Amino acid sequence: MQYQVSQSSAANIQASCIVVTLDQSGKLSEAAEAINNAAKGFLQARIDAGDISGKLAETLLLPGVAGIAAGRVLLVGSGDKPLNSSSAVKILDAIASASKKLSGDIALDIKNLANEEVSEGWLAEQSAMAFGRSLYQFTATKPESAEAPKQPTGIIWVGNDVADKLAHGDAIAQGVNYARDLGNLPGNICTPSYLADEALKLATNDKVETIIIDEDQMEAMGAGAFVSVAKGSIEPGKLIIMKYQGAADDEAPHMILGKGITFDTGGISLKPGAKMDEMKYDMCGAASVLGTMRAMVELQPEINIIGMITSAENMPAGHASKPGDVVTSLSGKTIEILNTDAEGRLVLCDALTYGIDNFKPASIVDIATLTGACMAALGGVNSGLFTQDESLAQELQVAARYSRDKVWRLPLEDDYQELLDTNFADMANIGGPLAGATTAACFLARFTEGTPWAHLDIAGTAWGGAGKSKGASGRPVPLLVNYLMAK
Ligand code: BES
Ligand code: MN
Ligand code: ZN
Repeated sequence: MQYQVSQSSAANIQASCIVVTLDQSGKLSEAAEAINNAAKGFLQARIDAGDISGKLAETLLLPGVAGIAAGRVLLVGSGDKPLNSSSAVKILDAIASASKKLSGDIALDIKNLANEEVSEGWLAEQSAMAFGRSLYQFTATKPESAEAPKQPTGIIWVGNDVADKLAHGDAIAQGVNYARDLGNLPGNICTPSYLADEALKLATNDKVETIIIDEDQMEAMGAGAFVSVAKGSIEPGKLIIMKYQGAADDEAPHMILGKGITFDTGGISLKPGAKMDEMKYDMCGAASVLGTMRAMVELQPEINIIGMITSAENMPAGHASKPGDVVTSLSGKTIEILNTDAEGRLVLCDALTYGIDNFKPASIVDIATLTGACMAALGGVNSGLFTQDESLAQELQVAARYSRDKVWRLPLEDDYQELLDTNFADMANIGGPLAGATTAACFLARFTEGTPWAHLDIAGTAWGGAGKSKGASGRPVPLLVNYLMAK
């Protein structure tokens, strides 16, 4: 998609379609009024005939409007209240969806919607994100029919120079759609080796270096928690490291770490069969790291970033861990594996230790489809945020609000740590039936001491829907991009 900014008037702009608004009282925006005048009252006639009333996100596509340069007019309702970020996104999604099957350039003259709460730049950025969402199609295992459907090739923002915001939104949209593609791929294609290859592809850029540490090397260095999961599968596990260098060598990097379980059967603590296919999404944390790193390559921030993915397949097999097994993590701490289905924390803890020891990061955010308990608590609206670092909490909450990729903070207090106590090791890998999302975070906290760290549980937000609408969301790429760009 091409993005441009134009100061041309709505009636004169050359485009396949010009988008303008009217409010719920039927009042046309200034740009819509200019088109109406050029078209000798045609828009007003449609309103008078009752074709559109101006309700929030209502649309009316008018082809062949005489007297203007654009091929069509898309009228969009802006409702009866000043816009907030949520109603604004409803409008942008309606625009993207109504112009989905048009080809050529779509001109958006909707700057009149900006107010104190939603700036023109923010609207432009969110427009690019809305078009990215609406044009997404998964074709890797279900190719589209012979003739590719028509779709817009460019967006023209009619208004102030918000080119950087459009570029920002487009980078996020591409990162999101890349993460969706990876998430939607089945477990027989998207293996740990596949994720490693994707990370290597990113390194064809002179700012990114990718390092792959394989399962044998992990075993040799003593990463017993990681290996206890990976060894149950014939797919070799991988620790994947993407180093993005945007600042001086000696500047401490910010690290993002994604859980990349490419399929989670539960292992010997086998999951029930219903909906088990959805455990192909257990690598969506990893997908969000790849999507975010791709956006970083696009946006080139002047910071250092470590994008890390800890990847394995969790299978029941002759080599698999058994409930009650005790393993020694890379940190030296021992872990009693009481449930092999709590595998995410096992692959994450060794990656945290490796990252802290080798890169001395200034901050770490891990992203994981970690617990059904988090999904039960927050549903598909908010990702769970766990941290004891107030400034990291603040940064992530601000980025979440700005990008509308929401988080809700859940407790991470030392008082919960004792739920992980066991007679047989330094800790158990589960904490019993209560506060499951918090005990998972407490487990990870034991491997991050001394480094500002936050954990995002995306079990409820990384994918959703059922039947034809089922799919990966690409979250929390928007949040992570905004968080890193604000560093
Ligand atoms: N990947 C799952 C978490 C999950 C389950 C995410 C369902 C989304 C939907 C994770 O590995 C897991 O199995 N967690 C267990 C932990 C339990 C054994 C303490 C869970 O949440 O049931
Ligand atoms: Mn599991
Ligand atoms: Zn899992």
